[in-house]
Amino acid sequence: MRAIQIVELSGPRALQLVDIPEPDGDGVLVDVRAAGVSFPEVLQSRGQYQLKPDLPFVPGSEVAGVVRADNGRFKAGDRVAAFCLLGGFAEVALAQPQFTFPLPDALDFAQGAALILNYHTAYFALVNRGRLQAGETVLVHGAAGGIGTAALQVAKGLGARTIAVVSSDEKERIAREAGADEVLRSGDPWKDEAKALGGADLIIDPVGGDRFTDSLRSLNLDGRVVVVGFTGGSIPEVKVNRLLLNNIDVVGAGWGAYVGKRPELIGEIAEALDGLIEAGHVAPVVGARLPLVQAADALKLIDGRGATGKVVLEP
Ligand SMILES: NC(=O)c1ccc[n+]([C@@H]2O[C@H](COP(=O)([O-])OP(=O)(O)OC[C@H]3O[C@@H](n4cnc5c(N)ncnc54)[C@H](OP(=O)(O)O)[C@@H]3O)[C@@H](O)[C@H]2O)c1
Repeated sequence: MRAIQIVELSGPRALQLVDIPEPDGDGVLVDVRAAGVSFPEVLQSRGQYQLKPDLPFVPGSEVAGVVRADNGRFKAGDRVAAFCLLGGFAEVALAQPQFTFPLPDALDFAQGAALILNYHTAYFALVNRGRLQAGETVLVHGAAGGIGTAALQVAKGLGARTIAVVSSDEKERIAREAGADEVLRSGDPWKDEAKALGGADLIIDPVGGDRFTDSLRSLNLDGRVVVVGFTGGSIPEVKVNRLLLNNIDVVGAGWGAYVGKRPELIGEIAEALDGLIEAGHVAPVVGARLPLVQAADALKLIDGRGATGKVVLEP
């Protein structure tokens, strides 16, 4: 099969198109129609991600496609979305059954490849870690990105009011389409503007860096900032007196590590998301579709802050 490998740790140009045997082993074999590309693959291409497989390896944590052969839960030909951790940038991928889900008819394969990592994480961050209640105001950083658009759609679907923080006109348009009630610019005094809009009860932060302290200052009483990632490049530090003085929480949300220890949550979140898909609240935003051979361009798009919604490869 054709696949993309990371052959050295020199960034996106370290990707190579190769011909290798199909994967085998226990699990669900999926003929890949779309592979999701995410920030972790950019980090993996530089050896900066927590998961560091031996070189060379096929990256790609999630795919959507068609099940190759009957197995316990699925029949040959079933449309599925699957989180495979690695190996997704290929014509065929192997996924574990507990991380393989029927793909709802309402979604195409590219949207299926955008579903698991971002939407399971967004739901987990908002509900399980962030304790979201209907009627609360949720502020989302990096709101036109993969996690950002997912968090906006899920939050709206759960009855929240949403404020998006983005860096450009184009990203404002994407955030509004994903359900932002208000949109602020990261280059403007967004903290003051957020406070003028009534402040936030919950902040979803995949960006980190400089804006973290202003996030704390934007929170209402009992407010929570949920730490999801650090695309801004630096890991912020918290002066804990702010938490005491303002009665606010900083909460971490690492989806993979959590569901690895509480696997029963995987199915619960999938069921909740199916309900949101059926009700029309969740429809993943696919910002770019590229052929497998352009995997390096896909990584560069994310690395250069140019991605909107999800970037997918279509083998
Ligand atoms: N905790 C978990 O379980 C979990 C799960 C999945 C992903 N993540 C993490 O969540 C983060 C976001 O992932 P994503 O897929 O949403 O990424 P993405 O689609 O690339 O979006 C990230 C957003 O971050 C903003 N940003 C600010 N400074 C940036 C910079 N210097 N470089 C690039 N982007 C910058 C950009 O928005 P503006 O230009 O509008 O500022 C961009 O849209 C990543 O760190 C990822 O590893 C965590």
